[in-house]
Amino acid sequence: MLKINGKTKLVGIMGYPLEHTLSPIFHNAAFNYLDLNWCYIPIPVEEKFFDKAKEGIRVIKNFVGVNITMPYKEKVLPCLDEISSYAQVIGAVNTIHIVDNGRLVGYNTDGRGFLTALSQDGGFNPKNKNVLIIGAGGASRAVAVSLALSGIKKLKILNRTLDKAEAIRSKIISNFACEVEIFNFQSNLENCFSSIDLIVNATPVGMVKEEYPFPVELISREHFVCDLIYEPLETPLIRAAKEKGAKTLNGLNMLLYQGAAAFKIWTHIDPPIEVMRKALEDALELKKN
Ligand code: ATR
Repeated sequence: MLKINGKTKLVGIMGYPLEHTLSPIFHNAAFNYLDLNWCYIPIPVEEKFFDKAKEGIRVIKNFVGVNITMPYKEKVLPCLDEISSYAQVIGAVNTIHIVDNGRLVGYNTDGRGFLTALSQDGGFNPKNKNVLIIGAGGASRAVAVSLALSGIKKLKILNRTLDKAEAIRSKIISNFACEVEIFNFQSNLENCFSSIDLIVNATPVGMVKEEYPFPVELISREHFVCDLIYEPLETPLIRAAKEKGAKTLNGLNMLLYQGAAAFKIWTHIDPPIEVMRKALEDALELKKN
């Protein structure tokens, strides 16, 4: 059981809305397991109060860090005193470490979380591979940069809005030796899906049951198919890929590893991954019932 007292160190997640976040569950499970006097809390902040809230965490003595989630991952950048080079290239921060009495240091553990899940749970090595990412928002950007850093050969981005895909393309080609092609849903999609080793869905499409707009008929068993969504664990994309005999990975492990990386930044202790994974799986199971 967590015992809160005057020495409890605080971490948390700032975003809005936060009712559905699973981060407190698996971080607190880890603190509990390691018998650390730490507590992870939700910090829901409406946009009109964001400026005040971010100054607040600076002055609360027992705050060690916060995760930052939608809609603040980009907006938080100008308020930070230092930003890791990785987060700078991505252009978004999901983890702040508060050091030296109020200095805010920003990191991005989303890309690292994705790569860890891909290699450890998916057994996929992205080096020299051709990748298709669907979506061009913040999650797509973190995944694109992390894959480019891992030495992929070619990146294709498929997005509803071409301008956003173009923004990621110019970021990647100006920082990495990686060829990038962009597509929208009116493009030749057979061409878009051809010669691809890894497909990543970085949009929210598949979270709710509605007509599925992605061309799942173009998936084949040679693809490795990854969906960043974890609720549901089996999206229409993952289901179609399994039916074709393709290897798949859902978003649960990325969520887990981005959290585990933040845990390590704050505590300097190796996170108990299996305890955190079990807490997450239990929480999702409970939500389903
Ligand atoms: P995140 O930070 O989680 O990546 P985001 O920045 O809002 O979220 O990005 C969401 C991505 O999903 C965007 O690429 C968005 O497409 P647009 O750039 O055209 O807006 C994409 N997306 C959201 N809903 C979609 C839908 N119904 N069909 C196709 N793409 C969708």
